[in-house]
Amino acid sequence: MDRPRRLRQSPAMRRLVAETRLHPADLILPLFVREGTTEAIPISSMPGVVQHSLDSLRGAIAEAASLGLGGVMLFGIPEHKDAIGSGATDPDGILNMATRVAVAEAGDALVVQTDLCLDEFTDHGHCGVLDANGRVDNDASLLRYRDMGVAQASAGSQLLGLSGMMDGQVAAVRDALDGSGFTDTPLLGYSAKYASAFYGPFREAVQSSLVGDRRTYQQDPANRREGTRELLIDIEEGADILMVKPAMSYLDVLADAAALSPVPVWAYQVSGEYAMIEAAAANGWIDRTRAIEESVVSIKRAGADAVLTYFAAELARSFR
Ligand code: PBG
Repeated sequence: MDRPRRLRQSPAMRRLVAETRLHPADLILPLFVREGTTEAIPISSMPGVVQHSLDSLRGAIAEAASLGLGGVMLFGIPEHKDAIGSGATDPDGILNMATRVAVAEAGDALVVQTDLCLDEFTDHGHCGVLDANGRVDNDASLLRYRDMGVAQASAGSQLLGLSGMMDGQVAAVRDALDGSGFTDTPLLGYSAKYASAFYGPFREAVQSSLVGDRRTYQQDPANRREGTRELLIDIEEGADILMVKPAMSYLDVLADAAALSPVPVWAYQVSGEYAMIEAAAANGWIDRTRAIEESVVSIKRAGADAVLTYFAAELARSFR
């Protein structure tokens, strides 16, 4: 008889034959930084996650570094928004200020990454600028992304996360960076990013002003083949790393990406995935610690080389 149970008989044996392991260096912690606050402000739909002040950000970076995390991904929440998202390209805009603070605090301990998207900075909440008819204008948005990329690289960002889902964004930002001397700044293409209900709590976290949805630029959750198309385009345009997002509902897309990509593939366990686990655990319906570990192990097993997760620090602490 074939007896697979032989390899499951003790914790030591199971540990020895485990195919997937979590390591702090494979985890990236997303962090929110809010302009005009002097202390950290809790986000009600994401228990345990806060909007940092520039000051509390320092402590979060120091902790992430001491835990050995691979990196942090910064998101900015500006006090003032406008139609073109001016705060995104202002060298003293909140995200660029936060980047300088984070880089100074992190030293060589981890990779400081920034979200390159306009949605936190626009008064209409879209990831690009609008044309005269109120539609998201792809090519005009690329011009803003180019400037935003140069502003972020100038602030010291060590990896730009292109999450806007405009066509041509990787090539455009690459060209702008190369033209400004930032040939060594790598790009993370959010290649397969779906129009997902699981971004819900994030919209509270960044105080999004979006009315409507992002379905003309983010992908339809029904489409797997189209995910491959987006991944291939980003590879062709020169992305250094690819992302699949959200993670748990898109493990098939992630497995496709892992199979075809010559560059690293990451996945983002998004705010709604975090909130679901926290809410169920708070009700006593699931074992919180086990659910967190199982969820992130599953994402790695499906093919992610690294995972962006709001659980990153907690997971790293549990490995100690
Ligand atoms: C866009 C962006 C979003 C998220 C990360 N980058 C929101 C969106 O696309 O609507 C969501 C992340 C999360 O839900 O945790 N700047």
